[in-house]
Amino acid sequence: MPELVDPDPRYQRSFLESVEEWLAAGDAERWAGLSTIPAIGESEGEAFTLVELADPSRFSTYTARLKSLADPATPLPAGIVTATQLWWVDGQEYLGRLSIRHSLTPWLLEFGGHIGYSVRPSARRRGHATAMLAAALPVANRLGIDPVLVTCDDTNVASRRVIEAAGGVFEDQRGEKLRYWIATS
Ligand SMILES: CC(C)(COP(=O)(O)OP(=O)(O)OC[C@H]1O[C@@H](n2cnc3c(N)ncnc32)[C@H](O)[C@@H]1OP(=O)(O)O)[C@@H](O)C(=O)NCCC(=O)NCCS
Repeated sequence: MPELVDPDPRYQRSFLESVEEWLAAGDAERWAGLSTIPAIGESEGEAFTLVELADPSRFSTYTARLKSLADPATPLPAGIVTATQLWWVDGQEYLGRLSIRHSLTPWLLEFGGHIGYSVRPSARRRGHATAMLAAALPVANRLGIDPVLVTCDDTNVASRRVIEAAGGVFEDQRGEKLRYWIATS
């Protein structure tokens, strides 16, 4: 039974296989999950290379760093908010990831939303994103977020269905982004 868990070194092998899959599929590295903090403006961000993550001790640092991003005491560059990073796993298999931002910046309110997610290419079209977003709603509620804003590109049919299956109420479109609110209680 798949579940949302904290990033953990025990998933190293499967996580790295998923990154190889993403790269082979030609998808952008940002969806592969190597960045803990994206580069924004003059900030260089923080990213780990695939070679680095093959080292168990670096991978352990990586998962610890991801978990630290949920702690409001962790220093972050301007424009990056505290966020809980969760992985969707089935046994030892890493299937996808999800991020719950604890608050909205003006940019997140317009475009990014509270929750972002991705499913590894080989695990798609099996209902994982739908189940993962549903499982994230109580977590967001425990963080005091109700409702959550979830957005997707107007061309992203799969993500749109995921949001609508979770009860997303469409508010409007800004640029290419469709914006939906979902009750978490
Ligand atoms: C979008 C994404 C998360 C969907 O993950 P998934 O696990 O395949 O989604 P599900 O299996 O839960 O499918 C959800 C719905 O989308 C449909 N769907 C999935 N992939 C599809 C595709 N490529 N084209 C059309 N419909 C698709 C499914 O049939 C399902 O529809 P249904 O609810 O009517 O049955 C995944 O494709 C992904 O990681 N994409 C790249 C990152 C991304 O776009 N993230 C979302 C940012 S907003």
